[in-house]
Amino acid sequence: MADLRVEVAGVSFQNPVIPASGAFGFGREYEKFYPLSELGGISVKGMTLNPKDGNPAPRIAETPMGMLNSVGLQNPGIDAFLEKELPELSKKGTRIIANVAGSTVEDCVEMIRRIEGTAVDMIELNISCPNVKQGGAAFGTSCESAAGITAAVRKATTKPLMVKLSPNVTSITDIAKAVEAEGADAVSLINTLLGMKIDINTRRPVLKNNVGGMSGPAVFPIAVRMVWQVANAVKIPVVGMGGISSGEDAIEMMMAGASAVQVGAAIFTDPYAPVKIIKGINDWLDTHGIASVSEIVGTVQPW
Ligand code: SIN
Repeated sequence: MADLRVEVAGVSFQNPVIPASGAFGFGREYEKFYPLSELGGISVKGMTLNPKDGNPAPRIAETPMGMLNSVGLQNPGIDAFLEKELPELSKKGTRIIANVAGSTVEDCVEMIRRIEGTAVDMIELNISCPNVKQGGAAFGTSCESAAGITAAVRKATTKPLMVKLSPNVTSITDIAKAVEAEGADAVSLINTLLGMKIDINTRRPVLKNNVGGMSGPAVFPIAVRMVWQVANAVKIPVVGMGGISSGEDAIEMMMAGASAVQVGAAIFTDPYAPVKIIKGINDWLDTHGIASVSEIVGTVQPW
């Protein structure tokens, strides 16, 4: 058994596999399948200051090797999370990452203030949701706005702060450097890629929102490329995600420079995906005689 422990921004994880925000709710449904203590951590469903119903249905569409979603940040609001979900979740023996998304800087800062002093281990500031009209991607697509919201949130919390980046930008490395300069402790990437699917018989988009965020195995090489570029551009740790569905994918993402990985779309086809990926990582390390998973981080040797 290899040593699977990793550290991201001062937080120790017993293994590098974290269900991604939006793919795992608050974990309750998955406890029927395996103890949550088997996971490195959980990034909970993206939360806003007030409850949100999300976008009208249909808001999920299958694509070859992937899926589109336009959920629109449906969530019960930060107070419901802190009062109803966190007390139980904090007893599960895994790290808790609170994913927060605000439509204004003030909303984000207020949420962060409410989280301060709770059992949350880390904050993931979502500046990249492509499915909401206000906030969301708007913060994550320019260096100035990404830096501005990071600076404001940084001042409001002593908790480790990870900023989740959008791939729907000209230069993701510039955005990563901008949030690093304002005090981000880590970055996570990639959020979904903006896509569209049209029903050719009705000539209507399949999603009521017309467009949505693409995830799943089809985006994996794009995510690996962006993680590699960002890991080489910043000094803070990178958490990689985007289409990871096997232990080998996780190893590849970590060789690109990710200190830990998040698993999203794979969970919709197989709820056991995160635990299978943990086992797959361990098997690969054992087969290759590598004692610790952290030894492989950033070890790709480019031509
Ligand atoms: C959503 O709820 O629309 C997805 C969240 C995200 O892409 O950040």
